Amino acid sequence: MAKIGPAIVVHGGAWNIPPEQWPPHRDGCLRAARVGYAELKRDVSALDAVVVVVCDLEDDPTFDAGVGSVLNRDGYPELDSGIMDGAELRFGGVVGIRRFANPIRIARAVLEDDRLCLLSGEGAEIFARERGFQECDPEALILEPERAAWERHRSGNFDLKEKFESSNDTAGAVALDGEGNLAAGNSTGGTSFKHPGRVGDSALPGCGIYADNRYGACCCTGWGEQIMRLVLAKGVVDDLERGATPEKAARSALARLNRFESGRGGLIILTPTGSAVALFNTPRMAWASIGPGGERVPE
Ligand code: GLY
Repeated sequence: MAKIGPAIVVHGGAWNIPPEQWPPHRDGCLRAARVGYAELKRDVSALDAVVVVVCDLEDDPTFDAGVGSVLNRDGYPELDSGIMDGAELRFGGVVGIRRFANPIRIARAVLEDDRLCLLSGEGAEIFARERGFQECDPEALILEPERAAWERHRSGNFDLKEKFESSNDTAGAVALDGEGNLAAGNSTGGTSFKHPGRVGDSALPGCGIYADNRYGACCCTGWGEQIMRLVLAKGVVDDLERGATPEKAARSALARLNRFESGRGGLIILTPTGSAVALFNTPRMAWASIGPGGERVPE
């Protein structure tokens, strides 16, 4: 049987991305997708390609992930990241990371440990240290624009809904390798000015990400509380299992999200046959895809 060519879809958040910030968002997603596609073309697994891509996005200060993440109410970033392997439904996630710049790598190590699925806060950082990951000063994750935004939030009336209309840069990717394996991964600093300890959808299996080789892989981005309430990513893969096209599954997911006034976000889907979809109910979502049909980016 002919192999399906590799394919990758990357997202960099769904929100009202202003015109001056659109080029770095679009270009950052395309750059990361090209990095991931090159990995897949040299037979790296979907899981490994997702790690490389999400690391690239975490290292890009444009996105609310890794360096440049938003600050919580107490003035420091808390990072969440998760990754899922569609071949064996293995999952790894870490939440509340403060001292590591690439939480997706720690999430991957959690996935490899079959006693674990999800680690939080101090315990997740102990695990990361034990596994030899390089620690950083929490201050190193903070960039000046985010510090300035935090100062503004602190001194004024902070409206999370208004903020979500204007900013949410969670980053992630879904990949299909030449062996037909699907994987999905997300990384985020979460919501601006969030309560310390708040966890969003991004690193939770079924909520922000899901992957099953038989049906498809999905990453969500947007207001995490509403996505969690709907277990949105698993719902998408369930719809694919029932025979929905990826377009229909994406539209149904957004219809469910629209039930909430604050149900704002988007999603990317990749199927075992390489069909890719990116859909959102926000003014814009940064995304890029590469597959047998070539490169696609929004205008
Ligand atoms: N979707 C990212 C978050 O709510 O944390």
